[in-house]
Amino acid sequence: MTWEYTEKTMQLFMDAVHGKPSSHMGEIADPDGFGEHGSIACGDALRFTFRTERDPSDPLRDRIVEARYLTFGCTSAIAASEALCAIIEDKKCSPVEALEITNRDIVDYLGGLPEAKIHCSVMGAEALEAAVFNWAIRRGVDLAALGIDITRQEQDEGRLVCKCFGLSEPYLRRKIRELNLRSITQITNAVKAGGACTSCHHAPGGLQDLLDEAWGKQPTTMVSTPSLPIGPQPAGGEPELSPYQLAKRVEKVLDEDVRPKLQHDGGDLEIVDIKGMLVYCRLQGVCATCAGATSTIKLMVEQALKDRVDERIRVINV
Ligand code: FES
Repeated sequence: MTWEYTEKTMQLFMDAVHGKPSSHMGEIADPDGFGEHGSIACGDALRFTFRTERDPSDPLRDRIVEARYLTFGCTSAIAASEALCAIIEDKKCSPVEALEITNRDIVDYLGGLPEAKIHCSVMGAEALEAAVFNWAIRRGVDLAALGIDITRQEQDEGRLVCKCFGLSEPYLRRKIRELNLRSITQITNAVKAGGACTSCHHAPGGLQDLLDEAWGKQPTTMVSTPSLPIGPQPAGGEPELSPYQLAKRVEKVLDEDVRPKLQHDGGDLEIVDIKGMLVYCRLQGVCATCAGATSTIKLMVEQALKDRVDERIRVINV
């Protein structure tokens, strides 16, 4: 599956992977603000750090002068992280002012992102917010007194709606309204919920119920969901794969890309099942008992399937 990225996205990505001096990939030692979003288990994770020029008398006049990121993700996750850092450094703004930067600003900076990749920009905005909250604690700034809602993260704890991505009801309610999400596809594109097994789509209290609660019941044509995980159609209009086609593609990539490397080291891999976008695998041979089995599954197997089959795939070691 291929994606149509803008020139800007590709340029930022290539500069980052080639370690060009303009890239912001990395981590600031002893940063003034530190924030993380996502998790490697869910396929995308971002660590964001910034350094400020401190104002000795008023922390609200601190200026962000340097921003860095580390991400475990695809082309768009890297480009969106680069965009976030560039926007912040260009603005030379205070951390509080940086809270005004939204995922839309990141998308605009890139000249657009495929709909299915919007979650990369959302991840950037959320890591930035977490880093600013962290800065406020370090600098003794009372964000609540400035009218900024700092209880979001605690409020986001609650009943899990999407177990595959560990997303709670309060978090999804908030994101549906903040990002004006009107369908399950849009939720999946923005925050990934619903993008794997699909069982949360129409379960009681699931994604459709949250949408109905937020916007009222919509005509079925606007909210219908096929039996396969929907989501994002790739740019260029490639059709969704059937379960059979998906299984064949997965096998092909494993045979061509993954198994030869594992076998070279005395290991192997067996597919146990495929449900929606969840691929259940079992490592064999020396790989089965290797201390780095989780990394093998995520960094080698899952990444190969994301790159060559569908970026929504998650691989679970059973
Ligand atoms: S529970 Fe939401 S995608 Fe699996």
